[in-house]
Amino acid sequence: MSTPARPESVADPGDGGAVAGSARRQDTRLDSYVDRYAARTHGMKASAVRALFAVANRPEVVSLAGGMPNIADLPLNVVGDAMREMILDVGPQAMQYGSGQGEPELREQICEVMSLEGIAAHPDDVTVTVGSQQALDLLTRIFCDPGDVVLAEAPSYVGALNTFGAYQSRVVHVGMDDHGLDPAALREACASLQRHGARAKFLYTIPNFQNPAGLSQPVQRRRELIEVAREFDLLIIEDNPYGLLNLAGDPLPAMRSMDAERVIYLGSFSKTFAPGFRAGWVLAPHAVREKLVLAQEAATLCPPVFSQFAVSKYLSSHDWRGQIESFKSMYAARRDAMLAGLSEHMPAGTTWTRPDGGFFVWLTLPEGLDSQAMLPRAVSNRVAYVPGTAFYADGLGSRNMRLSYCYPTPERIIEGTKRLGEVLGRELELHETFGLHDQPRAVERSQAPRPDQR
Ligand SMILES: Cc1ncc(COP(=O)(O)O)c(C=O)c1O
Repeated sequence: MSTPARPESVADPGDGGAVAGSARRQDTRLDSYVDRYAARTHGMKASAVRALFAVANRPEVVSLAGGMPNIADLPLNVVGDAMREMILDVGPQAMQYGSGQGEPELREQICEVMSLEGIAAHPDDVTVTVGSQQALDLLTRIFCDPGDVVLAEAPSYVGALNTFGAYQSRVVHVGMDDHGLDPAALREACASLQRHGARAKFLYTIPNFQNPAGLSQPVQRRRELIEVAREFDLLIIEDNPYGLLNLAGDPLPAMRSMDAERVIYLGSFSKTFAPGFRAGWVLAPHAVREKLVLAQEAATLCPPVFSQFAVSKYLSSHDWRGQIESFKSMYAARRDAMLAGLSEHMPAGTTWTRPDGGFFVWLTLPEGLDSQAMLPRAVSNRVAYVPGTAFYADGLGSRNMRLSYCYPTPERIIEGTKRLGEVLGRELELHETFGLHDQPRAVERSQAPRPDQR
């Protein structure tokens, strides 16, 4: 079965768009508005590989690049009936302006969703956002002035790096080990900032099935990270779109369930229902929530009311917990196909992570190979991925790539890993003949997550 082509204009958070932190001007002399743009636009950078992704979206290419959830498994008849009912029942209200904080009924349901991760929250502390992407935007807007430091895992979610870059924040990466963000590295990063008279505005972390590394923090690790945050009076933004997609069992307790004052929690319906509704949320301490609502009103007046009513109706009329279980078995089959395909087709010296959930595997190439340089050859061999450099604000990651198993079928995933293996084999042959690319810098090795050996 072939994966349907996706229109080139579709926005996909996984396509490795812009990279934060690099404020190189992208304007050209063809742009006659060039002297009018705000300085913050300098940090907005088009992806170096975007043109290639237009090709990568052709049906003959197996794209292991995008992070799009496989919503084809949603029962569309059930969703359709619920939408129809919602419009007939409360259509005029659903098509009207609404509250800047979000609709009260949905905020109550969001608290129920978060209780699955041990969070006891009040709907008053929830602000609905246009996906958790907008939550990132609003939080950066209210916390960060140009030049402010934000701590983030190395590597980290490209959409967050873009947002931090758009507000001219400075991303300082913090290393991970097999259990995600490393508390010792976090302590060292905070201490180093302190020595320089600086303090990070917040730590941005993805504790579950991290995008892009696929790693998760065990419960004890979360506690240790919160301890370090207390030591340095550090605010934590916990971004958690994948937590309910734990393929190994029940969801783990959120960091927010361990500290309600220090942790700001971001949630999303994009992966557990559908991203097209653009429905996400922030759970924040009261004072922060007030600022968020003001920022939300300035940005959109109110989050889309129609989407909120639609999601709310879905939650109240459908067995959404059962739907998540069914998504989990579908994603488990795809994750297993990816791991089996990699074991079979990757050359010696290649390593990768083994996620217990979420969408992504992080692969480390044999020494001397460069994932960005070889992408055109991979696409010619009809397989695509996102080069690791997209996930660093500082240009590292050239020996890494992110592979997604969420969207293609298991058969296509296996085929994709086979094609990738062929490309790596040829790259290695070339390197044996003509010598190696530049060696990766020492810091890159120390910051990369330590993947399982194959
Ligand atoms: C870690 C992470 N945060 C946030 C988002 C944005 O999700 P949303 O669709 O809720 O805006 C994504 C999307 O892939 C993600 O992977």
